[in-house]
This record gives sequence, structure tokens and C-alpha cells, in this order.
Amino acid sequence: MLRRLYHDQPETFAFTPDNQKWAEAQMKKFPEGRQASAVIPLLWRAQEQHGWLTRPAIEYVGQMLDLAYIRVLEVASFYFMFQLQPVGSIAHIQVCGTLSCMICGAEDLIGVCKDKIAEKAHEVSADGKFSWEEVECLGSCANAPMAQIGKDYYEDLTAERLSEIIDELAAGQVPVPGPQNGRFAAEPLKGLTSLRDYDSGKTKYNASVQAAVEIGDTVKRIDGTEVPLLTPWVKDAAAKPAKPKAAAKPKAAKPAAKKPIDETGITKQQAVAKSKAKPDVSADIAEEQPLTLDAARETGADDLKKISGVGPKLEGVLNDLGFWHFDQIADWTDAQVAWVDSRLKFKGRIIRDNWMAQAKELAEK
Ligand code: FES
Repeated sequence: MLRRLYHDQPETFAFTPDNQKWAEAQMKKFPEGRQASAVIPLLWRAQEQHGWLTRPAIEYVGQMLDLAYIRVLEVASFYFMFQLQPVGSIAHIQVCGTLSCMICGAEDLIGVCKDKIAEKAHEVSADGKFSWEEVECLGSCANAPMAQIGKDYYEDLTAERLSEIIDELAAGQVPVPGPQNGRFAAEPLKGLTSLRDYDSGKTKYNASVQAAVEIGDTVKRIDGTEVPLLTPWVKDAAAKPAKPKAAAKPKAAKPAAKKPIDETGITKQQAVAKSKAKPDVSADIAEEQPLTLDAARETGADDLKKISGVGPKLEGVLNDLGFWHFDQIADWTDAQVAWVDSRLKFKGRIIRDNWMAQAKELAEK
């Protein structure tokens, strides 16, 4: 299927403060210089926030990750988990139309979608509540035919049951996902033929369905307030949210002259200016500028990349700020850490990686 950007796009996109904080936390999961690996979670969050993935949202994610827009668009247009056009306000139904499901009745399910939602895939129903599409195998072939609705699978479907599910969703209910014919999971229809003593009754539903019921986000759009739950690697996840970036302005490509050259996403000249400017993110403690140098001492600069968490780009930023030697970093106080931290793109890494202890050890070698 041809996947293109929708013809009618909003002007701008920006994450809400909660989602911005969540997105920045996701970026911290990856090593220095590998923040692009967060592209899928960030795109997914943007879709959760807006309902579908807009061009400004794709550009916004590209800016956050310092990625060319085309790279983000490649990801967004490749995976059909990303909706490039408006979808129903309650649910977008993805009916598997691959072999097992087709043999077991997928065409009947698609018939229901055509009757109850819209004649064509990706059309939003007249009441705006639903949309549908046919997708490739979703990996639940033993429970064919099936459909993904929201974040969960509805399996062992019949046309009648799918019709009921749509009615229940329209009425504000959330039908329990999983097998719809009484099966616990993917055991034989006539019951177990082996492992009969296996105690599978510890939970009411199979593990996937149990988790779906407990989390309860089937067709609910997650909104970023679950940060402490989903970003345990960020110690200060409950801290106040970072200031969201201004909405991205659509543009064809980044001009080469403005291409960020360092970890902060700003040019070398800007980095120097920024080091003297008031930081744009307020810190919880008063900042104090540490001792800085205009250039390395005559003995030559230390290799700051030996500090775990400092890559080539970040080393350049530190040099621009006036730090060339391990002993300059080893004695930073909390107030001085706050000063440096407020000038880095990804906050909290100095404490997290304990730069001071590392620098002290390296300085003594
Ligand atoms: S064929 Fe439908 S889930 Fe695999």
C-alpha cells in the first residue's frame, strides 16, 4: 500500500509538557550520540498525542533527535503502526488479511468494517468514531482471524463478534481483548492434548490479556503522565518538565549552514555565545560558573572522551565552554554542576555518570 503524508496538515506540532519530559527521558536510554534510536517511541508518542502522525510532528521529532526529516519520514511511512492520516476518535481497527486469517474469515471481518465504518479503508466513519484498514500478518495466526484495535489484539473473531465489539466501543465500553471464542490462549479448540496438569489458571486471562486488562489502555491514548512508571532509568523522572520546544515550522530540508555541529544541537559560534548567556531551563539550585580556560594548557588537552558518557560531540561542547582538563571537572560542586548541566542538551548526565569521580581518577593517573 502506498503510504503518503495526508494532504491536509496542521500548521504546527509540539509535545505537551508531560510528553516532552517523557520523550527526553526516552532519549536518555541510549548511549551518547545514539539518541536517534528513540525515533520510534517519540513518533508513537506524537501519534498518541495527536491521534495520527502529522508532518509537523515528524519534523518536530527530527529536530529533537537531530535527524534529517527524510530519515524520520522513512520510519513513519514504513511501519503501519503509524497512521499518516486522521483516524477514528475511538478506534482504528486493523484487520489482518494475511493467509491464516484470510482462510479463517478475514474477508467477513472486512465486510463488517465496510458496513459499519466506511466503504474504503482509511476513511473515517460518518460519526468520526472509527476507521479501519487491512494489514499484513500480526503474528497471531493460531488465533485467526484477528484484528488489532487500539493497542490490543482481538482474536478468534467472527463477523458477528466484531460487529458487537464495534457497538460496545461506540457505547464507551472496552471489550476484553484476546480470544473471543472462549479459548484461554492458543491451545487446541477441543482442549489441551498435553500439559494437562499445567496450572494456567493463576490469572483469569492469558498473560497478554491479563496485562491489557490491568493496564487498561486498549483504546485510551497514553498522555505522558505515566512517566515515573515507564522511565525508571531516569532518577529525576518526577522532576518538573523541561520547557517544550517551539513548534516546528515545515521546511524541505535543514540548511547546511545551520546544521548542528555538536551535542547541544547548536553551532560552534552559538555554543560560545550560549556559554555566556542565561540558560533557558531553570535549575533547582543556584548556578555557579566553574573555573574555565580559554584554551588547553601547554601540556595539551586531556582526552575528555575517557569519561564514560562523554563522546566526541560532547567533548567539543565542553571545550567550547572552557573545560580541557580532568582536574577542571574533578572538583565541580553541586552549583557548578548545575551551571554546566544547564548548558548541555541532555540534563542529568553529569550526576548520572558521576563525571567528577571519573575525572578525579583520570587526573591522578
Ligand atoms: S495471518 Fe493473521 S495474524 Fe498471521
